[in-house]
Order: sequence, then C-alpha cells, then structure tokens
Amino acid sequence: MTKDTILDVQKQFEEALAKAKDKPSLEEVKNLFLGRKGKVAGLFSLMGEIPPEARKEVGQMLNKLKLDLQAKLDGKIAGFSDEKETSEWVDYSMPGFSMPKGSRHPLTRAVDDMLSIFKRLGFDIAYGPEVETDWFNFESLNFPPNHPARDMQDTFYTEGGGVLRTHTSPVQTRYMSKHQPPIRIVAPGRVFRNEAISARSYCLFHQIEGLYVDKDITFADLKGTIELFCRMYYGKDVKIKFRTSYFPFTEPSAEIDVSCFLCGGKGCRVCKHTGWLEIMGCGMVDPNVLKAVNIDPDTYTGFAFGLGVERMVMMRLGINDIRILFENDVEFLKQF
Ligand code: DAH
Repeated sequence: MTKDTILDVQKQFEEALAKAKDKPSLEEVKNLFLGRKGKVAGLFSLMGEIPPEARKEVGQMLNKLKLDLQAKLDGKIAGFSDEKETSEWVDYSMPGFSMPKGSRHPLTRAVDDMLSIFKRLGFDIAYGPEVETDWFNFESLNFPPNHPARDMQDTFYTEGGGVLRTHTSPVQTRYMSKHQPPIRIVAPGRVFRNEAISARSYCLFHQIEGLYVDKDITFADLKGTIELFCRMYYGKDVKIKFRTSYFPFTEPSAEIDVSCFLCGGKGCRVCKHTGWLEIMGCGMVDPNVLKAVNIDPDTYTGFAFGLGVERMVMMRLGINDIRILFENDVEFLKQF
C-alpha cells in the first residue's frame, strides 16, 4: 500500500458520491467504502505491510480518509433526510383547494328555462339580427311611416339607416318571409331603446317573441298555450288574465297578467298590492302583417306574444333595480 493507493480510494469515493442521487444509492456507497468489509477497512487491514517507521504517517492518513468520507457521506445523506420527506409528504385525505366556480347569469338562466318550456310545447327557436331595417322593425309589422305608434318606442338609428331593433317582433316577419306555415317559433334576444337609464329602464334588455301561424289558429290556442307556459314556469296554481290592449301588429291585442307568485294573489309589495303581475303582450297576428310577408290571411291565422325577460327575473328574484343585471358585479352574480 502506498500513498497513491489511499488517494486512489479517495478518488473512487468522490466519483461514487457524485453519482449517488438518492438515499439507497448513498447507503450503497457507504457500505462499499465504510462498511465492515469496505474499501477503507481493506486499507486498514494492509497496515501490517507498512514498515514500522512509516506506520504513524500512513495510519494518520487512513484515519483522516475515514473521517473525511464519513463526513461527506453524512452531509449528503442529511440532504435526503426523513425530515425533508415529511415536509413533502402529501395527505391525500385532506380536502382539496376548490376552484371558484362560475355560474350562468340569471338572465341567461331565465331565457334557457323559458326556451326549454317552449321547446316542449313544440316551438322551434329562431334568431334575428340586432341591427334591423326600418322595414322589418316597423313597416312589416304594420307601423306605417309617421304612424304615431312609432312614438311608443324610442329608437336608436345607425349611420347606415338601420335601427337597433326595439323589440324581437321583427323576427316574426323575417321568419315568415322565408318559411310557409305551419310556423311555430320563439325568438329570444336583446332589444334596444333610447330611454333615460333608471332603476326601471335600461337602454338594452331581453325579450322572447312567440309566433304560431297555421290554419284555424284562434285566440283559444293563444290562451291555452300561454296558460300552459305559465303553469310550467310559475307552478300549477298560477292564474292568468287577459286585458285588452293595442299593438299595431296584432288584432285583437292583449296584455297578460299572472297572479303574483309571491303572495298568491293576496297583494304584496312586488305586485303593488294588486295581486297581479303584468308579464307579456300578445294578440292575433294582424292580417296586414301576414300580407306584408305574402301569407294569405284568408287561409292562415296566427297568434303572437312578446315577453320582457328582465321584468320576469326582477320579480322572481325580488330585484328592484334593473341596472344590477347589467353591471357584472361579482358579489351579486356569485349568489346564483
Ligand atoms: N313587441 C312588443 C313590445 O316590444 C311586445 C309584443 C306585444 C310582442 C304583442 C308581440 C305581441 O308579439 O303580440 O312591446
């Protein structure tokens, strides 16, 4: 054994230590070099060969080697200690971190609920553009130019001469200009009115339009359909009543009230102590509207209705300011 033999073992150890990347391989290195039959023990067993005058020096070298290897191994093993493993240990029985969940906006939800009822009653869903022509928004619906009925709606006009639709009724004539009866559709969508913004009115809101045109459609069909819809939406005990009204595109025209879902008709704050809530306009399609889209009013008749979604949602949720439905305030929205 020479000094080089010792330095060689030291070198082998450094290499093996550098390669060991986990606790088990470090244990192997430890055994290989410092174990009872390891390389360092092997060197000690050769001490007998060393001439007495050199023994002290070689002995000191071997002891230093042993301490050095021990310290380096201990240092690296400590890096893989149980303490560290504990801190990385995952308790799979702990409750997880939940992601904040989004939800559908109350308006979207109301429209979806109502559409699914109308689908069950046999209505298809139709859509029309939000920027309309004057013809579809007014004229085809029996509002002649300069007719005072146009004043009922404050209209936004676009630069190109279009209008932001003031109601979903133009979807009626759009659809009828492309389809022949029987026609049974509902048309949801946004409508726009140039009104002063307040707790009760906003510059845009949502409507659902309904149209049923076929042979022999009567006011009784309108009544039956609306009554069924109201029972499916508000519950089977709801009562409805028709009040005469006026719309250019229906004749006769009516507005429909439902018994207040909150007080059951006894009178409360929501129904302003009348027991009734107004929910939609409706009527029999005016023959002039059918003529405008080349459907023969002597062969076909139909009914139409239009309901305001915001009003129904506000009544249902007890909201008294329409603006909250458009502000996207997370504190409000996360309740739903
Ligand atoms: N378009 C009307 C409005 O915006 C609502 C309406 C009333 C629609 C009667 C209809 C209807 O289809 O028959 O005020």
